[in-house]
Amino acid sequence: MFHNSGHSSRLFYNPQNMGPMTQMREIQGHLEVVGNSLHIGGVDCTGIADEFGTPTYVYNIDRVLENYRRLRDGLEDHADRGVAVYYAVKANFNPAILRALADEGAHADVLSVYETEFALRSGFPRERIMFTGTSVTDETMAYLLDNGVLINIDSFSQMRRLAKIAPEGLEVSVRWNPGEGAGFDPKVITAGSRSHGRPVKFGIEEGKILDLCGEALDLGLRPVGLHQHIGSGWTGGDVDRFLETVGLTLDVAGRMTDLLGHDLRQVDFGGGPGIPSRPGQQEFPIDRYCRGIYEQVKKSGLGFERICVESGRYIVGDAGVLLTRVNTVEEKSGNLIVGVDAGFNALIRPAFYGGYVDGVFREAYHEMVVAGRIEGPQDLCTVAGPLCETGDLLAIDRRMTRPEEGEVLAILGVGAYGYSMASVYNLQPRPAEVIVPKGRLVTRRDDLESLTKSYLTRMI
Ligand code: LLP
Repeated sequence: MFHNSGHSSRLFYNPQNMGPMTQMREIQGHLEVVGNSLHIGGVDCTGIADEFGTPTYVYNIDRVLENYRRLRDGLEDHADRGVAVYYAVKANFNPAILRALADEGAHADVLSVYETEFALRSGFPRERIMFTGTSVTDETMAYLLDNGVLINIDSFSQMRRLAKIAPEGLEVSVRWNPGEGAGFDPKVITAGSRSHGRPVKFGIEEGKILDLCGEALDLGLRPVGLHQHIGSGWTGGDVDRFLETVGLTLDVAGRMTDLLGHDLRQVDFGGGPGIPSRPGQQEFPIDRYCRGIYEQVKKSGLGFERICVESGRYIVGDAGVLLTRVNTVEEKSGNLIVGVDAGFNALIRPAFYGGYVDGVFREAYHEMVVAGRIEGPQDLCTVAGPLCETGDLLAIDRRMTRPEEGEVLAILGVGAYGYSMASVYNLQPRPAEVIVPKGRLVTRRDDLESLTKSYLTRMI
């Protein structure tokens, strides 16, 4: 039985947090310390919090585009054929971000009806959208057919149900499972048969993929693409393993080509490249990644038209910060609790991911600073949100500038899977969203009206 002894908190204790404070990871022209204050896209974070309240997500659109271009150009520099960079809308579906990427010529990777609608309405033409879902309903597929969006097939069931409603000769892509995955946490490794005990639900395994293609042809569907996505949030150390799966995917693409009697149109290697989350951590080796993909493609001798990837975090992850105001600083049972107005309703990653994997503590770590006083006397702080759960912690025993009540904390690296995973648990409003460098509010914080509008029961 669990009980709350003085030692239970040690379960979560992460020795890496205990090191001496290092300099915040600045990104030139994007995240900079001016005086002793944090600026994003040239705008003072404390000023944004004062103007728009907290909690507020702030995204630097210029940084999003810079990240997108670095990835696109990296691939184009090496490739001898077309390149398509799909932006994984699941990472951040803010329409201002979608609009900027659509205008820049990006493609969109979507997994639901409304992600598709958001992409279409933000300016992605249907030809630049691909749907990769799982447990996909007939209604969703009917919607995608109506809108002419390419569907990536994830199961025999999906294919058979699609064939019943699809026009003869419908072009489809298929997602296979290369048997080995990579990711920062077991919950985001999407290939192999199990991820640290959890069955993997994605894609078609090697022994069945050609049967699926054969059956697709018999059913009147026309496979034109092959797809893999092995997991999310890799570091440079994962690139070699990823490149091995690229080789396996190209091998399957070759066998599909033989079966079909013609080249595929595209092979998609999925998303996954991560961002550094701690000061001093290495940048993702984007050149090695891009060059490695191309070398494998060249080695395969295949003549398909274009190389695709679909990144979310790499494009938006480091472009966003979450501003949250400190309301409580108090020692409780020997822990210095820094109470803030954003909990896991606003940013679930630190609460949802993390634990010991093969003896190593892995976590969704987010650097955080006192936005208006980066350097100051330090303490071991536990940053806690306003939710009624023990797990509602954004940082545990973290050595950082000791905040004072009323100050604003900036939580870094939250542009991906921040707002898009937010909820209204405890009826805490989801944060506002602001875009810089313009400093424009683009999403209102939830309020009583937005929180009550779905309910059909009368409230006094
Ligand atoms: N393509 C597919 C089919 C995916 O499932 C995903 C992410 C991506 C692309 C984009 O992956 P990225 O480049 O962003 O790693 N909530 C987690 C991440 C889950 C990712 C799910 N799929 C997090 O907070 O880290």
